[in-house]
Amino acid sequence: MREERPIIALDFPSLDKVKTFLSLFPSDEKLYLKIGMELYYAAGPEVVTYVKTYGHSVFLDLKLHDIPNTVKSAMKVLADLGVDMTNVHAAGGLEMMSAAREGLGRDSKLIAVTQLTSTSQEQMQADQNIQSTLADSVLHYAKKTKEAGLDGVVCSAREVEVIKRATSSDFICLTPGIRPEGSASGDQKRVMTPEQARQIGSDYIVIGRPITQAPDPLAAYQAIYDQWNHH
Ligand code: C5P
Repeated sequence: MREERPIIALDFPSLDKVKTFLSLFPSDEKLYLKIGMELYYAAGPEVVTYVKTYGHSVFLDLKLHDIPNTVKSAMKVLADLGVDMTNVHAAGGLEMMSAAREGLGRDSKLIAVTQLTSTSQEQMQADQNIQSTLADSVLHYAKKTKEAGLDGVVCSAREVEVIKRATSSDFICLTPGIRPEGSASGDQKRVMTPEQARQIGSDYIVIGRPITQAPDPLAAYQAIYDQWNHH
């Protein structure tokens, strides 16, 4: 299930900024792009159709969480948009996740967020009243995600091994928080290099600012691509 292309997080506020960024890449370079809430809410579904027209793949990171029927209907719309992968919150429950799968169909990958990596164990216990460890909660949600027929989870690279052991080796683990050797970690607290993520068994890595804010984004992308694929 491993994807050779690092997914670039397109955390830009407008379609114009996306166009400028993509113009730095050769036209035959097919990228895997993550479109999150900021860009999607600013630019609308057109941003998805725009990048798909150029042959890029899209992970639409909207983290849906609502009643099953609403999520199912929304997923039908996203399937029609041609997204390659999208996601939900596992906290929405088994029934919501199954409905999401039904709505999206099988042509696009569907993954779930377990506990956000910005959530500490103390916060989880106090805010969500879940009295287990954070690791147990992540594992519990990963198993429910598998049970609902989804393809995998978003997780910290540190959690990959135990999640795969509890689900299956082909259960997708998509990991953000990736920083190439020697680069600034920004607000990411626990980071891993692309090489470490590969060794630990991540299937997809998501990386934003080290590429989007680099003086030479194409060179940064190629270096990260090589580290991830061990060339
Ligand atoms: O710029 P950076 O590489 O930190 O971007 C990582 C991307 O992955 C951002 O879009 C961020 O919202 C997302 N993300 C994350 N950690 C998670 C889930 C998503 O950094 N646990």
